[in-house]
Amino acid sequence: MTSMRAAIQKFMRMAEIDTTSLAPTVSLREVIRRFWPALRPYRGRLAVVLVLAMLGPLLDTLSISLYGRLVDEVLVPRQLAMLGPIAGAYIGLTVVGGLLGFGRSYLSAWITEHLLFDLRNRLFAHLQTLPLEFFERSRLGDTVTRVTDDIDELGEFLATGLADGLSHLLKIVFFVGALFYIDARLAVISLIVAPPFWFIGRRFATRVKALAREQRARDGAVTAIVEESLGNAPLVQAYNGQAAATTHFERETRTVMATQLALERLRAGYAPFVSLIEVGGMLIVIGVGAVDLAEGRITLGGLLAFLAYLSQLYSPVRGLNRLWGEAVATSAAAERVIELMDHQPAVVELADPVPLDRGVGDIIFDGVSYRYPGTTQDALTDVSFRLAPGETLALVGQSGAGKSTATRLLLRLDDPSDGRILIDGHDLRAVSITELRQNVTVLPQEALFFDVTVREAIAYGRLGASDREIVEAAQAAGAHQFIERLVDGYDTRIGQRGRGLSGGQRQRLAIARALLRDAPVLVMDEPTTGLDNENATQILESIRRLMEGRTTIIVSHDLHLVREATRIVVLEDGRVVEEGSHDALMMSNGLYARLTRARRRDGQTTRWSDRESGVQSVLSRLPAVL
Ligand SMILES: Nc1ncnc2c1ncn2[C@@H]1O[C@H](COP(=O)(O)OP(=O)(O)OP(=O)(O)O)[C@@H](O)[C@H]1O
Ligand SMILES: [Mg+2]
Repeated sequence: MTSMRAAIQKFMRMAEIDTTSLAPTVSLREVIRRFWPALRPYRGRLAVVLVLAMLGPLLDTLSISLYGRLVDEVLVPRQLAMLGPIAGAYIGLTVVGGLLGFGRSYLSAWITEHLLFDLRNRLFAHLQTLPLEFFERSRLGDTVTRVTDDIDELGEFLATGLADGLSHLLKIVFFVGALFYIDARLAVISLIVAPPFWFIGRRFATRVKALAREQRARDGAVTAIVEESLGNAPLVQAYNGQAAATTHFERETRTVMATQLALERLRAGYAPFVSLIEVGGMLIVIGVGAVDLAEGRITLGGLLAFLAYLSQLYSPVRGLNRLWGEAVATSAAAERVIELMDHQPAVVELADPVPLDRGVGDIIFDGVSYRYPGTTQDALTDVSFRLAPGETLALVGQSGAGKSTATRLLLRLDDPSDGRILIDGHDLRAVSITELRQNVTVLPQEALFFDVTVREAIAYGRLGASDREIVEAAQAAGAHQFIERLVDGYDTRIGQRGRGLSGGQRQRLAIARALLRDAPVLVMDEPTTGLDNENATQILESIRRLMEGRTTIIVSHDLHLVREATRIVVLEDGRVVEEGSHDALMMSNGLYARLTRARRRDGQTTRWSDRESGVQSVLSRLPAVL
């Protein structure tokens, strides 16, 4: 018991994020170069936002100068004549500023949301093209975070960063200009605080970037843990892994908390630092300004406006610094998105693929070799065989012989490293991928389903299938009876991955789906393993119906399924070692004969014969059914 728990804990530790596997670093320039084209459709609107972003600082500058005039022309001389016009101008500026602000905010949000929409959908579509082995290797939760949070961060910055930056920059230019206009000497004195500002800002940005990268990766890890442990809930509960999962989750979220707090500490600590410099600068200016005022070199209104510009100047400077921090944090998110986008699809369709329509199902493996990426040994070596239309071939061999690999290649989930596969005389690489997959149905060992109703699960075989066709397919697959007995019949939800159903029921549903798909080529990978004898027997009946009139490849250890085949191809370590009928192979006394006898020696004789009688009874009924 304890050793089991230790094993689970070890597994959990193995699953822990390795910070050395952070996405490769990408510079901000690269981020902008990569994503600028995505903004292209919104160039016009972006230009409007930029103009609005430029007008904002202009209005701010004007309203501060109005303040100076208010002091000099109304308050100091105690004359009310100018109060009306100045107040009117104030109101006018505020109204215009408000309208511009509204326009800018809404338009920015509009661009951001549209950009996010594009980026996210493009990334999702790209994910659909990635090789299966990408999903086998990467952590689902981490990928999910990249499609959701990381894209958010990136899109937001791309759409608003430029306008914000421009607005801050212009404010600085206008305000500094105003400072020099009012009093050049005072302006020079007040700018001595700029270098420390710049220096601190740089230091700050470097630290933020490091922490932000870590934070993005940690976020991905947390989602991955949730996804993995909830996705494997049956395993976790059966092996008492709950506590270990909770501890693991807690540890990871604790580091998320620590990283986030470190980031906040940095951001929060930055503000007082900056305030201190601001106040210092302000006091120096007030000191010098008081002397100037006393000696009549500046008016009170001028000095007050000067101080107002100066105090307002810090805000765009701070804003620019913050923006820089955001930019580096964004590049941390962007590099994760870019890494995903740069992942290449396994197979690429020709520009003008050969149309296949509904093929006849003539399959040729011609000297096919295949090696999985990142491995050093071929999974298939020089495999050749041919299936005439309508023929049934069994692919047998020990575990790891390469049977499933061959089925993967037939669906063109990847291309052979050497040799070629032909369908109806065309190299798979030449035909349209969509049409190829319309022609080949795969019935995998473990059927996959979405969490939908029974009806929708079957209809996935052919979108747009009518209710009658669905029921017919279910009847032919021997699924109709059990479906009728479900709470809501065809409208019953089958649960995540179809877990609301038994293994046999799922398999029958998969057969119904395949029947509906009605492709000329059928590939079954161990369709009866994991089922009890009775189930396997009943399913055999449905499988036969499915095979009728189709070119079929059966991958199986199940002798009775194998016997359905006219020819058997025996694989060993990725090579074809024997080929022939069951009887011929038994006679030649090679690997196939050894494997078949080994099964019997393993004490499976009774099971085999049990099943035999079941199958025979089915077979005897078959003519009536077919
Ligand atoms: N995604 C993968 N990445 C790397 N190697 C793989 C991958 N899938 C399979 N292999 C390797 O390729 C070889 C053939 O595997 P394959 O799944 O085709 O065997 P199989 O004959 O279907 O076995 P089984 O009867 O156990 O299903 C094995 O050595 C296996 O380790
Ligand atoms: Mg397999």
